[in-house]
Amino acid sequence: MAEPLNIALAGLGTVGTGVIRLIETNAELIARRAGRPIRISTVSARDRSKDRGVNLSQYAWEDDLTQMAARDDVEVVVELVGGSDGPALTLARNSIAHGKALVTANKAMIAHHGLELAEAAERAGSALKFEAAVAGGIPVIKGLSEGAAANAFERVYGILNGTCNYILSTMEDSGADFADVLADAQRLGYAEADPTFDIEGIDAAHKLAILAAIAFGARLDFDAVEVTGISRIIASDIAQARALGYVIRLIGMAEIETAAGESSLFQRVQPHLVPTGHPLAHVDGPTNAIVAEGNFMGRLLFQGAGAGDGPTASAVVADIIDIARGEKGAAFSMPVGELETVPQAETGHRLGRAYIRFTVPDRPGVLAEITAAMRDAGVSIESLIQRGRAEEGGDVILAMVTHEGPESAVNDALRQLDGSQSLSAAPLVMYIIGE
Ligand code: NAP
Ligand code: HSE
Repeated sequence: MAEPLNIALAGLGTVGTGVIRLIETNAELIARRAGRPIRISTVSARDRSKDRGVNLSQYAWEDDLTQMAARDDVEVVVELVGGSDGPALTLARNSIAHGKALVTANKAMIAHHGLELAEAAERAGSALKFEAAVAGGIPVIKGLSEGAAANAFERVYGILNGTCNYILSTMEDSGADFADVLADAQRLGYAEADPTFDIEGIDAAHKLAILAAIAFGARLDFDAVEVTGISRIIASDIAQARALGYVIRLIGMAEIETAAGESSLFQRVQPHLVPTGHPLAHVDGPTNAIVAEGNFMGRLLFQGAGAGDGPTASAVVADIIDIARGEKGAAFSMPVGELETVPQAETGHRLGRAYIRFTVPDRPGVLAEITAAMRDAGVSIESLIQRGRAEEGGDVILAMVTHEGPESAVNDALRQLDGSQSLSAAPLVMYIIGE
């Protein structure tokens, strides 16, 4: 068998230790599949004395992880530190500059600097791979850029954040509060170091921007993703959605729109109501699922563990195996120079059915004012549920579902109600996914 492929492992947290366990456990099988053994030569993290539940004594330790790339005994640098900038980015740039292949699970870094790194890797003739950055253990990047590479994609959407999905599905099953369920998700290792990235939809937006670039051959544009997280969802939304035949899921959606011969790219992360008959409605816990629609293949559904040490390590090591086989590939499925600049889509004309939750004082005239704003904006109401008040003079929840219409009309109605004494809190809008 050929010489081992020497790798440096930067970051020994959830994913880094998962990679060590996987490479040690499946060493022989991996060597047969890769054509050569994978050997961890060097590791690095902040705290050398921390007990990580893995034996590090056989690996060299590098205090300054940004220097790992310069070592002669390293062919592949595996960055599992995290953060869009800082030491992770310095290490990534150093690695490519030294002609080393780079494997990373860092969606924040790829969403912000992926094009720069991919161009640098192309110039250096080295590989940049980030399968684990999108949907953890699900090989969706490989699926789109290899297995389904012949298709023009029409739409890619799905559940891209395990923490949010765990929170929403657990709130649904247990009726527990948002904050308690979030604490569980952090304890279980699903959440990012800063959980705001998860619950405010930023982590899902990083992944969506990467997927959209790969699916549509478009230059990655993270700033063009419209983002709303799940932190404003309350138990009552979940109950109303259920009564109407839906579950709530944080959905990332990317779609090419064509009007008057011009293409634009729609990218949005937002909680949606998903009909209970839709495959995404049955995706519970930290699971991720992505639907890709291609012009010849039809609809593909990818589903699996989107976070956690084992699944994420599985995707990281798959990238390392590719490199061992000499399969460099193009980071975004085609050379960066082939990616097109696609303008951001306007969203006002998009048609949709909206769920709108109002928190209102329980007094005469409130409903009339809200429905008048809907009438004036041309929004047609399909159904309306008001929950009885808990106490005299307290607020009540009013949940409305609209008929299909332009998003701009809903926005106009809410603008008309902005600052009204009839609202106790800002309304929450969630769109409804079709079957
Ligand atoms: P983590 O558990 O927080 O581990 C981060 C590691 O990086 C730790 O070992 C830490 O060292 C080290 N580190 C952080 N800052 C450092 C610095 N300035 N210098 C040296 N070492 C530093 O993170 P993780 O969950 O494994 O995530 C790693 C990457 O994978 C992130 O990009 C994340 O977004 C991505 N990812 C994670 C998952 C998941 O399920 N967790 C899934 C997909 C992708 P110490 O241990 O010494 O503090
Ligand atoms: N925090 C991320 C999630 C980890 O919850 O999906 C995987 O990217």
